[in-house]
Amino acid sequence: MSRYPALPEGLAFGGDYNPEQWPAEVQEEDVRLMREAGVNLVTVGVFAWALLEPREGVYEFGWLDAVLDRLHRAGIAVDLGTPTAAPPPWFSRAYPDAFPVTREGVRVGAGGRQHACSSHPAFRAASARLVERLAERYGDHPAVVMWHVHNEYGAPLGECYCPASTAAWREWLRRRHGSLDALNAAWGTTFWGQTYGEWEEIDAPRWSHTAVNPAQRLDYARFANEEHLGHYRLQRDVLRRTGKPVTTNFAGTVNCKSMDLWRWAPELDVVANDHYLDAEDPANHIRLSMSADLSRSLAGGAPWMLMEHSTGATSWQRRGIAKRPGEMRRNSLAHVARGADAVLFFQWRASRHGAEKWHSAMVPHAGTGSQMWSDVVALGRDVRRLAPVRGARVAAEVAIAWDWEAYWALELEWRPSGDLAFRERVDAFYEALWREHVTTDLVHPSADLSAYKLVVLPSSYLLTEASAKNLQRYVEAGGHLLVSYFSGVVDENDTVHDGPCPGALRELLGLRVEEFHPLREHESVTLTGGASGRIWSERVILERARAELRFADGPDAGHPAYTVNAFGGGTARYLSAGLSAAGLRPLLAGLADLAGVTRPRDLPDTLELVRRGAHVFLINHGPGPVSVPGVSGADLLTGAPFTGEVPGGGVAVVREETF
Ligand code: GAL
Repeated sequence: MSRYPALPEGLAFGGDYNPEQWPAEVQEEDVRLMREAGVNLVTVGVFAWALLEPREGVYEFGWLDAVLDRLHRAGIAVDLGTPTAAPPPWFSRAYPDAFPVTREGVRVGAGGRQHACSSHPAFRAASARLVERLAERYGDHPAVVMWHVHNEYGAPLGECYCPASTAAWREWLRRRHGSLDALNAAWGTTFWGQTYGEWEEIDAPRWSHTAVNPAQRLDYARFANEEHLGHYRLQRDVLRRTGKPVTTNFAGTVNCKSMDLWRWAPELDVVANDHYLDAEDPANHIRLSMSADLSRSLAGGAPWMLMEHSTGATSWQRRGIAKRPGEMRRNSLAHVARGADAVLFFQWRASRHGAEKWHSAMVPHAGTGSQMWSDVVALGRDVRRLAPVRGARVAAEVAIAWDWEAYWALELEWRPSGDLAFRERVDAFYEALWREHVTTDLVHPSADLSAYKLVVLPSSYLLTEASAKNLQRYVEAGGHLLVSYFSGVVDENDTVHDGPCPGALRELLGLRVEEFHPLREHESVTLTGGASGRIWSERVILERARAELRFADGPDAGHPAYTVNAFGGGTARYLSAGLSAAGLRPLLAGLADLAGVTRPRDLPDTLELVRRGAHVFLINHGPGPVSVPGVSGADLLTGAPFTGEVPGGGVAVVREETF
């Protein structure tokens, strides 16, 4: 892990470049414009399989040679893609059974992309052959500084239910469980009479008219993740022989539910993430921060690459909402603040054809006389000025637990409430901390937590014994832990931990839960102190813990809602209510103070403040100016001393004198 590509200097700036869509004269102009904008890295060839191998075993590399040579002459480095996310028509015709099949049994059609199954032997073989040729031809090309495998594994194709997948699944189950007895025990197959006597009896957990065994479904999610990873590794191992770093672009760390990125990150030389704003979400800049923080956390704190984001509208949301003035700049610099050493876009030039012609680009349909082009050129200048930030690290004192297995398990069928949602809880805690100007890492609950003063465990329904012990050790050693409702309930096989809930955390929290009381759609409950919660209420029985707040109304009126248990040198708190981000803020601010978390005071919650090495990033998401006392030094973006005030919508990056 963590071999950042050999780029000349400073941060990377550029984007996906698809010269194959354009005539020669436009390609010449592209390179001239890239220089004007300060582009120093482009991703080439991501969807070019049909042009590189127009017939099976027949290769045409001449056009790509010309593109790479031209870029190299202009001093622009290349992140070379392997185009396996778009198998060509000849492949689909020759191997019709490689089309993926959905859980509902629908065979995916051609004409889009991601239309081959990662487990299918013919797809794996064709991918490997092509990648061998690419590595051979371009491994030594001086323009190529890194490899970009496939595109966004898991989006939109997560699980495939084709016959090849089912066969691979049985093999995977043999490896995971060893014996049918072990599998039957893990899956609890005595329930609904599902005991298996032969491996061949086990099917993929296809759609059924009733809930399907949740342990089987969880294993299938793990299996699907491993299959995509297998397809990646196959290519990675070939490409690594060239000595150049290899990555694949994550489909939005916080948005890609189907891939367990904790398992992916160690397989990459550098973490690369794609991020697109949910245009309708008024707090989308906060979700952006969370996506960036998870990217950094996956990279183990090392610099990562923002491989794609947009200059403006996307073409796949219901409304393609253009970014407001200054928004692209704030978005880009927020990623850099949180550890990105690359600011790259999808895409360089807006396409005239195909599905994404209404997706924004660095060179828009409106051309270089547009505001967009001026903004892109200005951003290129900003990015160059941020060169001293390269390689610097962000230190977080607070962590939120993020586990894809917990995410999957919580949202399977037939839970105590269909409103239980992992992202909803993580988002609420994250937003509360963000608005309190606390920078957060996201961690797996089994990871080393010793660097954190405060850890939050948001509705982590699935929690292994090992993770629970890890949390216990963290608190014992003096850490402060906040656990939200419906955590520590089942193990990795969706089996309820022994005894009353939350079995894995009962001792640490010093309480037990006797009954869940999920709320109806429009119901809410009030806590003593006034905060109100949605979704959840439950009957908590104190054992060693003490109640700090109680339910003031609802099914558990008078009973504990927020508790604390002193454990070893630290404290473990439990919150039974679904407080909004606003409701969580005072609780988290109090906890942060108790835990000694350093955070600035008296700043509006529209100002994003992040420290990266010796630099303080100040990003003003509000319309009016904000003064920031106590920060002084040179503003890298202007070259002048920081004035002490960030204009409405503006950004300052201050190199602190007394850091
Ligand atoms: C990404 C994808 C790109 C492009 C982009 C548009 O998910 O990797 O190829 O489609 O979305 O938003």
